[in-house]
Amino acid sequence: MKNGSAVFVTGFFILMSTLFITCNQPDEKGEEWEAPRDADDFKSPIRNNLLAEEKGKEIYNLYCLSCHGTYGFGDGAAGASFDRKPANFHQRKVKAQSDGALFWKITAGRTNMPAFKESLSEEQRWQVVSYLRKISEMEQPLKLPVALRPDIKVEHMMKVDSLSVRILQNQVTGNLWYTTFNGNVFEIKNPDSTQPQSQKIFSASDHGITSLQGAVFLKNTLYLCGNIVSNDRKTTKGRLVCYNLDSVNKQPAVVFNTVEYAANKTVFDH
Ligand code: HEC
Repeated sequence: MKNGSAVFVTGFFILMSTLFITCNQPDEKGEEWEAPRDADDFKSPIRNNLLAEEKGKEIYNLYCLSCHGTYGFGDGAAGASFDRKPANFHQRKVKAQSDGALFWKITAGRTNMPAFKESLSEEQRWQVVSYLRKISEMEQPLKLPVALRPDIKVEHMMKVDSLSVRILQNQVTGNLWYTTFNGNVFEIKNPDSTQPQSQKIFSASDHGITSLQGAVFLKNTLYLCGNIVSNDRKTTKGRLVCYNLDSVNKQPAVVFNTVEYAANKTVFDH
């Protein structure tokens, strides 16, 4: 048994040193950073995850926070001027990596990311990996904007759907509505209560506008405009639709479509 683990440990070190010699060269700027495949085989020896997360947090705050930010969004002050920004641990491409791959990167470093091979023990590096997993699920605490006029009070009202872009008021009912860039339209219920809620009323599958830019009410009629994609995203068209909310049938009427034109595949394509 003893011999077995000695062979394993030596093997591990030979493997690690080969990986560092072959892979620790700073890559070209702009190139994705990939850990060698074998790194996925490094398994975290951690058994007590809660304790590891706690230790990992101490290490993180001391060695990583300055670049990666308190909540791991890659927004630490020290990284602001780098060409290659510190990683945002909330991104899917980081979350999708194995513990071993993250451990390898923390060990090896690249560009402005220091190698922690010497300054952190192996156990500490695994502890910080545990904390990275935790931090990637944390939400940034809400920071309200500060009003410049003393007579304006900013309060948090409710959480809205992602990609929300417009807020508008129905002139007849007085209710607030909001829209998202990807075509969802919500009505806000009970805005004055302590727990306002929103209800999805329309979506891109109803009106076809997959990049929704503008929304306005004229009396009880809702107008939406934006872009529809066609021809396998190679071309696009502008579209204006309206919903008369007085009518029982809540089908959109297309006011007009523009001619088709080449899409440039950016969000500014409208
Ligand atoms: C001096 C700034 C700096 C510090 C301190 C720092 N990092 Fe980084 N980190 C970076 C930068 C910059 C990158 C992107 C490197 C690249 O892609 O070339 C990065 C990338 C990473 C990645 C790779 C994520 C991916 O894209 O796959 C991990 C994991 C990581 N850092 C973890 C840590 C941990 C854990 C610590 C603390 C022990 C730490 N970093 C400390 C700057 C820093």
